[in-house]
Amino acid sequence: MQTEPIKPKYGQLLRDFVAQLRAIHIDQLERKWITLSMLVVGLFVGIITIDAFFHGVNPPSKVETVDSASMHLNKEFAEDNLGVQVDDKGNVIIRMVAGRYTFFPKHISVPSETPLTFRWVSMDVLHGVHIPMTNMSTMIVPGYVAEITTTFPKPGDYPVLCNEYCGLGHNHMWSNISVIAKEDWKVPVKLPAKGGSNNE
Ligand code: CUA
Repeated sequence: MQTEPIKPKYGQLLRDFVAQLRAIHIDQLERKWITLSMLVVGLFVGIITIDAFFHGVNPPSKVETVDSASMHLNKEFAEDNLGVQVDDKGNVIIRMVAGRYTFFPKHISVPSETPLTFRWVSMDVLHGVHIPMTNMSTMIVPGYVAEITTTFPKPGDYPVLCNEYCGLGHNHMWSNISVIAKEDWKVPVKLPAKGGSNNE
């Protein structure tokens, strides 16, 4: 009657569905290709799973958050703290802010063949950053810090392009980066000089 249990009904539907699938005639050759493509999909899912869980490969925008509204007052992303810096351990850190429609600072110089840690934030909407001929490419999601560490092997001038549509000026949103030969690159002068009188 009308009090038919739901579970057997779905079970029956599933069985019918499988039976129908089995009844479909699939050409021998097509069956081979279906199997092959399933194996390829399985292989890719396997690689991603292993990389994510065993090698710790994750998207660059992790879970570090930043308040976009008060970012310019925040020490790390205050205007005079942007650009290239070298920390106490000698790591090169680059802080950049994306906003409609440019990247701040507009131009930076970095050394080649040196690990560079970029920290990107957005002050308004979703932007992206892409540096052609390098592996630098990430989304810059408002409210999150996108951190990437990479190395540029070849000196040269590269454009820094926005690759997420962010408004009418999107296609004009770009800046420049100069990669300078490691031995010619100098630490930006705005860093407070260490030492003091004994440096002379
Ligand atoms: Cu910023 Cu497109």
